[in-house]
Amino acid sequence: MSQTIAVIKGDGIGPEIMDATLRVLDALDCGLEYDFIDAGLTALEKHGSLMPQDSLDAIARYGVALKGPLTTPIGKGFSSINVQMRRHFDLYANVRPAITFPGTRSRYDDIDMITVRENTEGAYLSEGQEFVDDGNTGLSVIKVTRQGSERIVRYAFELAKNNGRKKVTAVHKANIIKTSSGLFLDVAREVAKEYPDIEFQEMIVDNACMQLVMNPHQFDVVVTTNLFGDILSDLCAGLVGGLGLAPGANIGENAAIFEAVHGSAPDIAGRKIANPCALLLAAAQMLDHLGMPEKGTAIRQGIRHVLERNRDMVTPDMGGSGTTDSFAEALVTTLRG
Ligand code: NAI
Ligand code: MG
Repeated sequence: MSQTIAVIKGDGIGPEIMDATLRVLDALDCGLEYDFIDAGLTALEKHGSLMPQDSLDAIARYGVALKGPLTTPIGKGFSSINVQMRRHFDLYANVRPAITFPGTRSRYDDIDMITVRENTEGAYLSEGQEFVDDGNTGLSVIKVTRQGSERIVRYAFELAKNNGRKKVTAVHKANIIKTSSGLFLDVAREVAKEYPDIEFQEMIVDNACMQLVMNPHQFDVVVTTNLFGDILSDLCAGLVGGLGLAPGANIGENAAIFEAVHGSAPDIAGRKIANPCALLLAAAQMLDHLGMPEKGTAIRQGIRHVLERNRDMVTPDMGGSGTTDSFAEALVTTLRG
């Protein structure tokens, strides 16, 4: 059965890494059809809008999008398209795996963990941001709801359960931010009781930062509120060798958008040296989500294989002398072999 997905090639290096990724998906015979839609600068030039309604409609229709990085013009009154899409589709779960791959600048071997960040509330509200006291005081509201906490914690436990993971760590600051972080922790404890087979751990966020750097192997699935999740997931990306290998999924009840965590890298766009790994790993997450986990695993193992054995095919940011295309070529050969 074929499934159509919306594909946003994106700006800057977006089209280069997307072409490489689609080539790999095609080689895997995933039965996917692509509907190419515009967003970002490309859409602004063609349709006068960074996020045209047609593109939103297509994502709603298929429920799944694979997205290249988008450039948000600075200082022209545009709000981030990524934030807009999260709101529009209520993509409440930001799921960021951190896995070590061979031959990368990782400080540890064998890290394999996932950060699940609440993506719609917490400290990142567009409302509740104001200056008072004649501009001499900045006031930001943190809003955490029972419903919002419950769905993100449940998402983390279900992810653990369905992927044979053993432990969920709820990261919080309930000792100081007693209301919002306190409610999140209370709800996490309640939800944890429904999953007696999965170990539940709670950890204060500052300690979690230290523990992640000192002893990352103790973590499996980490679930946390928006601001802490934003910071911790980048920390985890740093632990496993940086943004070139960091994928992310934004998941809601009715839509899911898969992307690389990095941006459009205008400094290297057009030079064919962009590392396609993060977008490839996002595509692997998408295949897991679409019920093809064996194909997702094939991509992850294939990347591992190429990084180990075909160093000359790897892009310069990972220490190789290859190109975006040579990496895709090596991966396709590995997957076919
Ligand atoms: P960036 O992630 O695009 O680039 C930071 C540095 O990492 C640059 O030196 C770049 O060359 C390098 N880099 C990034 N991805 C790479 C890859 N795949 N292979 C090799 N090197 C890579 O971040 P920056 O420069 O802050 O932002 C550039 C544009 O991207 C901005 O317009 C920003 O708004 C947008 N952006 C979009 C995101 C998205 O759509 N999800 C996320 C972050 C930024
Ligand atoms: Mg961030």
